[in-house]
Amino acid sequence: MDTEENRLLTECGPGTAGGRVLRSYWQPAALTEELGPEVVGDRPVVPVTLLGEELVLFRDQLGQIGLVSRWCPHRGVDMAFGRREDGGLRCPFHGWLFDVEGNCLETPAEPAESTFHTRVRIGCYPVVERNGIIWAWLGGGEPPPLPGLDCFVAPATHVFAFKGMWASNWLQAHEVGIDPAHAAFLHRFFPPPGEASELTYGLQFRAMVADTGIPVVKLMREVPAAAITAEPTAFGFRLRALRNYHGQFTHVRVSNCIFPNAIAIAMSPTMTIMQWHVPIDDVSCYWYSMFVSYTDPVDAATLRAQRIGQVELPRYSPRTGAHNQWGFNAEEQVTATYTGMGTDINVHDQWAVESPGPIYDRTHEHLSPADVGIRTHRRLFLAALRDPSPTTLIGSTDPAALTGPAAIDAATTGDDFDDAWRRAEGVRRQASSWAPPAITD
Ligand code: FES
Ligand SMILES: [Fe+2]
Repeated sequence: MDTEENRLLTECGPGTAGGRVLRSYWQPAALTEELGPEVVGDRPVVPVTLLGEELVLFRDQLGQIGLVSRWCPHRGVDMAFGRREDGGLRCPFHGWLFDVEGNCLETPAEPAESTFHTRVRIGCYPVVERNGIIWAWLGGGEPPPLPGLDCFVAPATHVFAFKGMWASNWLQAHEVGIDPAHAAFLHRFFPPPGEASELTYGLQFRAMVADTGIPVVKLMREVPAAAITAEPTAFGFRLRALRNYHGQFTHVRVSNCIFPNAIAIAMSPTMTIMQWHVPIDDVSCYWYSMFVSYTDPVDAATLRAQRIGQVELPRYSPRTGAHNQWGFNAEEQVTATYTGMGTDINVHDQWAVESPGPIYDRTHEHLSPADVGIRTHRRLFLAALRDPSPTTLIGSTDPAALTGPAAIDAATTGDDFDDAWRRAEGVRRQASSWAPPAITD
């Protein structure tokens, strides 16, 4: 990595090469709940900064969602203070009224017969709400359909969405997500967690490896080194991490990079997490997680209650961070956890993402063979930003045709590693009331 490549990979604003790649895909702009009474009371109008662009997200009186420029096209005041009335968002300065499509409906300071309003618009991006997240299309032209991936096609009852802010460039967050080696260290905790396998936040690695009776956390503690490979797919690439457990079986863990800025990882035998890492600007980002259940409906109230205390609304900024050393406790690091930062894996990841600084200078790093996911992603992203085309903008041509992906733990006593995870994935999908049986390769 040289300085120029680091710049290209980390810039997200309008007109930048990296920003153009990110704008070739639907991006999460807000949680649906951010326009709901629990977060904003009865005035669903919120400022949103997305890919370096300052915007306002609002729901009009008909329930339609608009994502418009934060700055009034008349004299530039802040539309986050707009009046929500008369079928749109009205600027308090001179009363210009805009609808969710950016049309100017009225310029009431002009004479009643004036048609001036027909010649002015406010900047506006298409949005669509799906499964707890409001998605935005910043790519210009007619937006493509949403992807056909599990988190989009699952019924709303089977998906729980949440988000949090991290104080770093988006790529640092993504590069933690596509690094299967770190789970054996960063998220390790002692003593052995016993048989508990309940889906408690931060304890996802307590799930058993297939039917081996060995919790994932135990396996990773005892077999830290993995053989990791990255295989290209229609949506990005698939990561496969193999760990041989004392000659008894091989643990096969499959996770994914959904190009360019999302991942899909296994949480438990019945649940996966799909997570987007979307820039606020070049030095901060949000993670948006969608917990997808293949069996029972999710208990959204419980899942939300477990997380809401860890962030401050309305920005979903974490209570831990550099300001309090991510909760670091030296004694705990000796006795209980590898990091000394509690058992919440999200905090561990936050430290890994944020502690290199807002924009990590990658000219200083030394990637190892286990960093194959990171190398693969950078190569693909650089190719896309240098020469955007249907080939380099992976998965952008027909997103609705994408399905899956498989994100699962499996075990085998042989060397049929790919058959093993495909079998496990097939069983899970067959038992699911909603999941498509086949996955995209
Ligand atoms: S500045 Fe918004 S209407 Fe004049
Ligand atoms: Fe992690």
